[in-house]
Amino acid sequence: MLPTPKTVFVKTYGCQMNVYDSERIEDALRPHGYTPAAGPENADLVVLNTCHIRERAADKVYSELGRLRNMKDARSGMQIAVAGCVAQAEGAEISRRVPAVDVIIGPQSYHRLPELLTRARDGGLSVVDTEFPAESKFEKLPARAASGRAPSAFLTVQEGCDKFCTFCVVPYTRGAEFSRSVARIIEESQSLIRDGVRELTLLGQNVNAYHGEAPDGSAWGLAQLIARLAEVPGIERLRYMTSHPRDMTDDLITEHGRNAKLMPFLHLPFQSGSDRILAAMNRKHTVADYLVLIDRIRAARPDIALSTDIIVGFPGETDADFAATLSLVERLTFAQAYSFKYSPRPGTPAAGLATPVEDTVMTARLTALQHLLTAQQKAFNTAQIGKTLPVLFDKPGRKPGQLIGRSPYLQAVHAEADSRLIGQIAPVAVSSASLSSLGGVIVAA
Ligand code: SAH
Ligand code: SF4
Ligand code: F3S
Repeated sequence: MLPTPKTVFVKTYGCQMNVYDSERIEDALRPHGYTPAAGPENADLVVLNTCHIRERAADKVYSELGRLRNMKDARSGMQIAVAGCVAQAEGAEISRRVPAVDVIIGPQSYHRLPELLTRARDGGLSVVDTEFPAESKFEKLPARAASGRAPSAFLTVQEGCDKFCTFCVVPYTRGAEFSRSVARIIEESQSLIRDGVRELTLLGQNVNAYHGEAPDGSAWGLAQLIARLAEVPGIERLRYMTSHPRDMTDDLITEHGRNAKLMPFLHLPFQSGSDRILAAMNRKHTVADYLVLIDRIRAARPDIALSTDIIVGFPGETDADFAATLSLVERLTFAQAYSFKYSPRPGTPAAGLATPVEDTVMTARLTALQHLLTAQQKAFNTAQIGKTLPVLFDKPGRKPGQLIGRSPYLQAVHAEADSRLIGQIAPVAVSSASLSSLGGVIVAA
């Protein structure tokens, strides 16, 4: 018997892995009759795929749940599921505060979602599944659907984290490091290529700690995986994120110098420019380690563009510690970066520290840091004017006749182009630059 047709709306918060997971949640539901809905208003099922990284991210979930509860009260048959890192971290609290939620499901259990929805419906009660199951969801989830994709796709190769930075919830919400096998990753990449994908971004909470089973039974690191994926016909560009400085191995650095498909862009969080704070964060690297790494990476691939994550106001951070962060940014120069005020997270070691930085001080530091980062980003973009960059076009632009694509350095690039160029790489002579994008004209290859 065919399943009754139903619709699902998945709302995604947080990181790229949640974007990937939301797609896999839709994959898990498709065989049970679910097709995507345009919004929550008429959907039979609304899934919130949540993020717990900072307090504000987690708070958003409860306000959204308030709205959904009212929607559910107004019509019969609607179900609500909470997935992702807030579900994992606060499953019991969600079901206590919002009993209208039908299913609360942790990131490792998405293959069980259809069964849990049925259980919730039959039992009339909310169902919580935040165990870390023995089986891998990757082996149980149905294959990714062919749906005429954008040319650039995410592919999770590694999940979880064993680093335990003292500020971070990820080791608790995603669990221990796990790497998918090379064979499975290649299979998934081939199905994405058949569906029109040209660029893959390999995802992991700690992607360069990848150590997956290879076809010969040995364990491969990320460099070997990238080298192998570069041979898959149809793959034209490879990227990876997020990396930890401790796992930037020699062979991965070498791969940046020898693999033309590996894009010259690296997101490598350093968090703080002060050794004292890095130690308190349990980052397992010093400022000097980071500087040496960047020197070696730039020696291997001189045009590499850098991106990073920085936290200001970690407990005990002094003006001198913060000045050291600014000077590290000044010294290295970043093409792009994410910066955050420290947010104490329940259950993490840093949340118990008795030396909080005042919010007004944090705000002033964040403003100063972002001022510097914005200037660097603008300068990096402006430096592209006059160059010709290969651009992978992925969608129509806002103006008619215009397409938007990405440069090797992940900048958005606008150019007048025929829509047939979507999915193709074309050389663009860059003639203008702003903080967030470049503009130019297509030139003959
Ligand atoms: N797995 C990735 C992403 C972690 S979360 C990684 O290891 O880089 C992304 C960023 O959020 C982190 O790099 C850090 O800069 C920031 N972050 C994590 N926990 C935080 C907290 N408690 N307060 C403020 N920022 C935080
Ligand atoms: Fe969090 Fe640190 Fe792991 Fe990154 S490396 S996910 S910041 S614990
Ligand atoms: Fe957020 Fe979880 Fe990603 S906490 S950043 S959704 S790993």
